Amino acid sequence: MSNRTLAILKPDCVEKNLIGKVITHIQEAGFKVIGMKMVRLTKDSAGGFYEIHKERPFYNDLLTYMTSGPCVPIALEKENAVEDFRKLIGATDPSKAQDGTIRKMYADNIERNIVHGSDSDENAAKEISHFFTRKELLEINGF
Ligand code: RTP
Ligand code: MG
Repeated sequence: MSNRTLAILKPDCVEKNLIGKVITHIQEAGFKVIGMKMVRLTKDSAGGFYEIHKERPFYNDLLTYMTSGPCVPIALEKENAVEDFRKLIGATDPSKAQDGTIRKMYADNIERNIVHGSDSDENAAKEISHFFTRKELLEINGF
């Protein structure tokens, strides 16, 4: 079982000035930040990241949304990271998310849902390497 996952604070999170609140929530749930940066995704980069959804009807809208402003990828460490982080963020559609979850508290709708979380250990490893080199993570862990 991997102890890492990738979060992305999506463009709506940045636009609504919620970066600090959401990171506080994540850290208070016991996740350690091991890598973080602010990036503006290109269509190609967002398309590669969400390639798994390329046949889905919402794919084009998803790319437009994810490239509409800066976002904040964060590599996180915790025991049982993938599953625990998915629980912390709640269901994709905030109206179906449990009380106390990040999406329930802050998200507008099924698309503009504030935060991404990896859905498997395999994807977590791929997604972390989409945004961070090994050296960027190792340097932080070296402290
Ligand atoms: P994520 O990958 O971002 O953590 O979200 P998720 O697993 O909860 O949901 P997923 O099915 O992987 O969908 C990826 C993102 O696409 C947008 N979406 N829009 N309009 C729609 O019906 C729809 N469905 C999904 C959301 O931004 C969702 O998080
Ligand atoms: Mg997903």
